[in-house]
Amino acid sequence: MTERTLMLIKPDGVKRGKIGEIIRRIENKGYQIIAMKMVVPTEKLLNLHYAEHVGKSYYPSLVSYMMSGPVVVMIGEGTNIISGWRTLMGETNPTKAAPGTIRGDLGREWEEKAMMNIVHGSDSVLSAEREINLWFT
Ligand code: CDP
Ligand code: MG
Repeated sequence: MTERTLMLIKPDGVKRGKIGEIIRRIENKGYQIIAMKMVVPTEKLLNLHYAEHVGKSYYPSLVSYMMSGPVVVMIGEGTNIISGWRTLMGETNPTKAAPGTIRGDLGREWEEKAMMNIVHGSDSVLSAEREINLWFT
C-alpha cells in the first residue's frame, strides 16, 4: 500500500551534520521525499505530537531536547514506508539499535534523561496522518 509518513531529523542529527547522510539513506532506499522544511518546534506542537508521552518522567527532558535547535521535517512516500522507515531508523534506544540502522550507526546514549536518537517516524497510518497535519498545517 502506498503510504505517507512523517519523518523528522531531530536537533542532534542537525547539529552533528547528519542531514545529508540521513537523506542519502532515504533516497538510496527508494523512498520519495514529497515535502521538506526546517523549524524549531514550539512546546505546544510537541505536546500534541508527543501526546502519549506527556507526564512521563523523561518528558520535560524530551521537550528541551526537541526544542534545542532546528528540526528537519519531511513527508516521505512509498509502499509500506511507515514500517520501512522505522526499520531504517532502528529501535528507540540508540545503544540497542542494530548497526546498519540510522540510530545504531549515528546515535548513542548520553547523560540526558531523554534518549537522543537522531530521527523520528510515525508508527501507524493514523498517527502518520495526524502528525503530518500537525507539522504541515
Ligand atoms: O521514537 P520512537 O517511536 O522509536 O519511540 P517512542 O516510544 O514513540 O518515544 C518517542 C521519543 O521519546 C523517543 O524517540 C525518545 O526520544 C523519547 N523517549 C525517551 O527519551 N525515553 C523513553 N523511555 C521513551 C521515549
Ligand atoms: Mg513513536
